[in-house]
Amino acid sequence: MSAWTSSAPEKLDAWQRLGTLAEDVLAASDSCSARGFDACSQRLGPLLVDYSKQRLNAETQRTLVALAHQSGLPAAIASLFAGEPVNATENRAALHMHLRTPAQTQAEATDVRGERQRFLAFAESVRNGTRRGTTGRPIATVVHIGIGGSHLGPELVVDALAPTATGPAVRFLANIDGHAASAALAGLDPATTLVIVASKSFTTLETMHNATTAKSWFLERTCNPAALAKHFVAVTANSAAAQQFGVPPASCFHLWDWVGGRFSLWSAVGLPVAIALGRAAFKELLAGAHALDEHFRTAPLDKNLPVLLALLQIWNANFLGASSHAVLAYDHRLKLLPDYLQQLEMESNGKSVRVDGEQATTPTCPVIWGGEESNGQHAFHQLLHQGTQAFSADLVACAKPAHDLRSHHGWLLANCLAQAEAMRQGRPADEPHRRVAGGHPCTTIVLDELTPYALGALLALYEHKVFCAGAIWQINPFDQWGVELGKELAGRFYAQLQGKSESSSQEDPAADPLADEIRCRSDTF
Ligand code: F6P
Repeated sequence: MSAWTSSAPEKLDAWQRLGTLAEDVLAASDSCSARGFDACSQRLGPLLVDYSKQRLNAETQRTLVALAHQSGLPAAIASLFAGEPVNATENRAALHMHLRTPAQTQAEATDVRGERQRFLAFAESVRNGTRRGTTGRPIATVVHIGIGGSHLGPELVVDALAPTATGPAVRFLANIDGHAASAALAGLDPATTLVIVASKSFTTLETMHNATTAKSWFLERTCNPAALAKHFVAVTANSAAAQQFGVPPASCFHLWDWVGGRFSLWSAVGLPVAIALGRAAFKELLAGAHALDEHFRTAPLDKNLPVLLALLQIWNANFLGASSHAVLAYDHRLKLLPDYLQQLEMESNGKSVRVDGEQATTPTCPVIWGGEESNGQHAFHQLLHQGTQAFSADLVACAKPAHDLRSHHGWLLANCLAQAEAMRQGRPADEPHRRVAGGHPCTTIVLDELTPYALGALLALYEHKVFCAGAIWQINPFDQWGVELGKELAGRFYAQLQGKSESSSQEDPAADPLADEIRCRSDTF
């Protein structure tokens, strides 16, 4: 990240000016944005982004763009696309954009193209029945085992585009919870089941445990170890471990070290998408994301949508005190979007150490949460409208539904518009308990239609937004060292639960009496 500035963002002139502008906004009795839709909306392909309900005037927007310049964002974007080691703590590039460049683009590495052709051909062979199980029957169900970035993206896309799915059924298994493993395998016939084990590292506890359980389930029922090779495939950067597990090289799809887990949907990690929806749909997904890449790479900062979304996040989180950000999916098909964005944003930018090794002295990523609407309106929106915390929100909707229940769609979108407006304008009232403060900044993103292309563009928009926010906060969005401690501790507690730890809690102050207590109450260990 050498191209980036390395000083604290709050030392920049633009940051300081934004502090003054924020004081005015927070002091103003009028919480509404003074700017209209024309000035504060932008269309890009199938996406329409309306940020007219942000607490933003023209000067604030100009100053935010100045912040992006002063932060060295253009150089950071250039470094990203040039394949420089922007993931400094792991000395790696972050070139997930290469996974979605069209085949004819010269810059794309041949092995990326080759691997894409290979896994898409494999997906087609599963779909059309040329790839069969060991007894000669076609594959009826795919069980995709993976967690985090090896799970959330594929599950979101398969679920979102399920109405257009034409391939075998796909089940997802991520959680270490045995209830999840039992449910994922329940009722399946091993002779017609294909298991995908997706793990960049091929060491992740949950994935390896679930994969081992699936393998035992398969072998117990088939009594045929030789059949395993026809029913298990792997997606990994660690093909040696996959082979040791029992997946032959021909059934192993490659990941590169420059593909971060939460940016890996576009690689063979997306295999379940290709199997459920087909090669053409998968290529459309890539094409939508690629169009967004090109926009991000070339558009001036003040017209660059990922940059603008990142700047809005910084304005809201750092200057207007919004410590949480709600993702409100006004489309049943996008109900998994909040989960996906939670990992993308919080695992990327939920950090407090800058790239120069210094402690961040301003807030970084807000808490990302959300849900499916309009359900949330009858649950947590009370807090949004009358609670005490500042928050920001993205409302995501589709103009055209995939059903013909017109009045349902009319009411869904009317509710989406109404909630954004209620958050913006609030409502004065004589009786205090009826008052709604308003002034909550929100952005509405409308997809013309939920196609693979539009979904690819939407997800790439958020990916690049995350990169830009990280660059301005001066943090590395591509590592995740914070998750390691819990993984290490889990090993110790597992041993204690098994009664295998060297000491009990009575003798060892580091041992947890709760673990002893659970062990006594459970006959599982
Ligand atoms: O533990 C966090 C994490 O490394 C994520 O970043 C990643 O997406 C997930 O675990 C799964 O990792 P892998 O693909 O190596 O199994």
